[in-house]
Formats: sequence, C-alpha cells, structure tokens
Amino acid sequence: MARQIAVLAGDGIGPEVMQVTLNLLQKALGDRSSEFSFQEALVGGAAIDATGSPLPPETLKLCEQSDAILFGSVGGPRWEHLPPERQPERGALLPLRKHFQLFANLRPVTLYPELAASSPLRADLVRDGVDILVVRELTGGIYFGQPKGREGSGPDEKGYDTMVYHRHEIERICEVAFTAAAERKRLVTSIDKANVLTTMVLWREVVTEYAERFNQNQAADKRVELSHMYVDNAAMQLILKPSRFDVLLCGNMFGDILSDEASVLGGSLGMLASASLSSGRKGFGLYEPSGGTAPDIAGKGIANPIAQILSAALMLRYSFGLGEIGNRIDNAIRAAITAGARTGDIALPGEESISTLEMAAEISRRLDS
Ligand code: IPM
Ligand code: MG
Repeated sequence: MARQIAVLAGDGIGPEVMQVTLNLLQKALGDRSSEFSFQEALVGGAAIDATGSPLPPETLKLCEQSDAILFGSVGGPRWEHLPPERQPERGALLPLRKHFQLFANLRPVTLYPELAASSPLRADLVRDGVDILVVRELTGGIYFGQPKGREGSGPDEKGYDTMVYHRHEIERICEVAFTAAAERKRLVTSIDKANVLTTMVLWREVVTEYAERFNQNQAADKRVELSHMYVDNAAMQLILKPSRFDVLLCGNMFGDILSDEASVLGGSLGMLASASLSSGRKGFGLYEPSGGTAPDIAGKGIANPIAQILSAALMLRYSFGLGEIGNRIDNAIRAAITAGARTGDIALPGEESISTLEMAAEISRRLDS
C-alpha cells in the first residue's frame, strides 16, 4: 500500500526549498518512489490568505491520513498584525505539535570541516569538529503550561505563562535522548535551571534516576554518561568548547534557544534539519528545517535548501525505515559541499554563491556516486 506524505510548504522560503527537496527525494527513492504519494496542503500565512485559518480542517485531515508530514516553514511580517493565536506560528505549528503529540524534537548539528570557515567561531575552537544532537521536549513546558494569559490594565496589567513538567513527560524524552546517545558518543548533557526553577529541580531528579535505570539495563559499551548543566552556562560552553557535547537534553524553551545557537556553529541555520516524533502513532513524525521563513530572502531563489533536504532524509530514516537512502542523501550533500557548492548563507565574503536550484542540482548529481 502506498505510503502518504503530507507536504506543507508554508510561507517565505518554504515553497522554494520544498520544491527542490521533492524532486531530489523522488530521485533518491528511484523505483521506490511509486510506493509513496505526496499530497500538498496549505498551512500558515498561505492558508490564512486562502481560508482565514492557519491550519484549515482539510490540512489537519490530510495530516491525519498521512504517515508523515514534510513541513516547510510558516510566518512572516505580513501576518504579524494578527492576534497571536491566529498567527501562523502559534496557530499552525504549535497545534500540529500538540495534536500529533510530537513530543520529541531531534535537531542534529554537524559542522562539516569544509565549512569551518563559515562558522562564527574561531578556527581553533571548532578544530575538533561539532557533532551535537539537540533533543528538545516539544509538547510541554512553558510553551503549553496552563494557566497562561493576560489580565488587568494600567501599570498592573500582567501577562503570564506557566512552566510545568510531569514526571512522565521527562521520562519519555529521556528515553529518546539516552537511546540516541548510546549509539553516539554516549554522553548526555541535561540542561536545566535547577538553581532557580522548581520545575527544573524535578527535571534534574527524574533525569538522574532515569540514567541510573537506563545504565543498569545496558551492556557496558552502551552505558551513557550523564552530566547536568545550567542553561546559562550551557549557552556559554557551546561557544567556548562545542566539541565537549554529544546529546543535549533540553526542555521546550531551553531547547528552542540552544538549538538556534548550536545551529550556527555548523555554519548556518540553513543547515539545521529537525525531526519531531510522535508519542501516539508509531513512526509518525513531522520533519522541518529549523530556520524559519527567512522573509528577507524569500522569493529570490537564493535560500539554502539543505536543511529542508536533510529533514526529508530524517523522514526516510525515522518514519519509513529507509535509513540507507537517507544516508545517500547526506553523503550527496557532503560531497556537494566538499566540491565547493555554497549558497549565500555559507559562502565566505568574496566567495561565489549559487542559487537554490543550483545547490539542489549539485546535490542531485552526486546522489548516485
Ligand atoms: C522552532 C521555532 C518555533 C518554536 C516557533 C516558530 C513557534 O522557533 O521550531 O524552534 O519556538 O518552537
Ligand atoms: Mg526556534
């Protein structure tokens, strides 16, 4: 039976990078592409313009009927005047995350040695490379905690959000982080603010207990070392010595912030892919670049498509068990970079930069070699 992918390109650079990604995906799948059906639907600002809603019921229905969602990006200055809950980000992305219980957000950050010069860090700081997996809890914490709201007026007017984590939410994100770490460098750094926030005291306790249980059940060569770090210190350590990190385990808000910071260590936010995995339906996930709509360059055909393409590779790996095709895509990207292909975001001053289509072509022709 055909497997269905809901394609939600969204706004800004979303449609441009999605188009080249779909072409590349077809090529990488080869004969197997007939096993997949790609169904496009409106989301975000584009959906507001067409239907009045950032997440129309037809789009949600399509996603429910699909096996995975390949997402572009949503939002832009055009919709910023709308009330927050009707804006593309809060009206589409957050409800999708909640609806499908996409609790585990994986954001792999790698610095290709060839791109070391594009990293904002000095060469000696990134000499040992960067290979970090940010594991961000995505459906809890201060993003979704109740109560939240605004009330009052005058000087006493107030706005509030609630940071709340349940033990079971912490445990399930631990499972994702530790399982991933066991196959990597076997180091989890759990990020918290336990010196100030009660929620984070619980976080630290639960993570510590989880690590003990996890390691009791592991062969010696799969045991994972756990360390804890306050989020402010982590923001600093990421800049001072990024090579010390393997898996960063974070709650929703800290993961949001640190993943943007970590991504530029790899040269550009335009290289950062992400997978958001569901706790409800096994294998179901939403795959999106982490970089947003980049309104300043939207429509110019110069956006870096790599984050979107890498997101599609993550989809093959996590939702469809096609890791080997995902690896071929990763390798083709790597080869294109090695050969000197650079979009504007990763080109050095004075270096020639190529368009979205050209970058996709550079990757595409290296798919088979
Ligand atoms: C991200 C984004 C979103 C978030 C926004 C667009 C709601 O920054 O995916 O990192 O804060 O989660
Ligand atoms: Mg973010």
